Amino acid sequence: MSQLDHECKCHNLNEEEKYALLTRIINEYEKNESNLIQILHMAQTIFGFLPYETQKFIAEQMDLPVSKVSGVVTFYSFFSTEPKGQYTIKVCLGTACYVRGGKKILEKLKENLGIDVGETTKDLKFSLEVMRCLGACGLSPVISINGKIYKRVNANKIQQILKTY
Ligand code: FES
Repeated sequence: MSQLDHECKCHNLNEEEKYALLTRIINEYEKNESNLIQILHMAQTIFGFLPYETQKFIAEQMDLPVSKVSGVVTFYSFFSTEPKGQYTIKVCLGTACYVRGGKKILEKLKENLGIDVGETTKDLKFSLEVMRCLGACGLSPVISINGKIYKRVNANKIQQILKTY
């Protein structure tokens, strides 16, 4: 079982330890190309994002061209090549949330944070993302911050919520 199957303490590791852990994971997955997405997920958990150097390292370890690894990273929206904020805010723009003010909430967040969707504040505190239906339509509109769900949010509540972080 990988160390990442338990709660990850990766942020406490230095760069060398992070790469050592990644090497162990790649070996656990037997450098198999069909496991590339899993390996990239774990690498993103360890490093917080997937910069070019990390992609290159994975490619070398797995005997793959870097272009193959980069192609997968850029294809899937859940991989990021930029550092993420400490808190990721996701605004639901599924149908129920959208018609009940999801768009207004998103605009308010953009205004308050001074960033667009897919961006991170300069102090690396918040990243802003949108998502499709979260399966909580009865509580719409909803947002989540690092997985914590805020229900029946409205634009006026945004500042109050942000202040708690
Ligand atoms: S549309 Fe937002 S939770 Fe379903």
